[in-house]
Amino acid sequence: MRITVLNGPNLNLLGHREPEVYGRTTLAEIEAMVRDAARGHAAEITWLQSNHEGALVDAVQALKGSADGALINAAALTHSSLALRDALLAVGTPFVELHLSNIFAREPERRHSMIADLAIGMVTGFGAQSYLLALQALVGRLRAT
Ligand code: DQA
Repeated sequence: MRITVLNGPNLNLLGHREPEVYGRTTLAEIEAMVRDAARGHAAEITWLQSNHEGALVDAVQALKGSADGALINAAALTHSSLALRDALLAVGTPFVELHLSNIFAREPERRHSMIADLAIGMVTGFGAQSYLLALQALVGRLRAT
């Protein structure tokens, strides 16, 4: 099973960036946790972080034929990117949307996701643990279908 994990803008700053909101775990530490958990599921992980919308659109387009499913934390692009939504619609790869913080408990502009209705489901608010919960949910769904 091939799973791609896509991380949007500013997630490279995790660990230092607003730790009261996002915690102190770095993205490299989260990647190691996800890779470790994926081994237990016999899943192969492709990992990408980009601060650029176009690079993420390219990565979504590349999912077709290269991934069975995806975990997506689109960060701020969650709330704004019609381009990301269109790319996800075009490829149709099953994905779980995830966030470290609970986006529904934050400012109004963060309470809407451009991609949530396209996702299998969403995990939001469990810090770094959101990645592991989302992985578990995605693997379960992919195995069942
Ligand atoms: C985030 C939530 C977004 O609103 C924010 O722009 C982020 C991170 C999260 O993981 O909690 O950069 O996606």
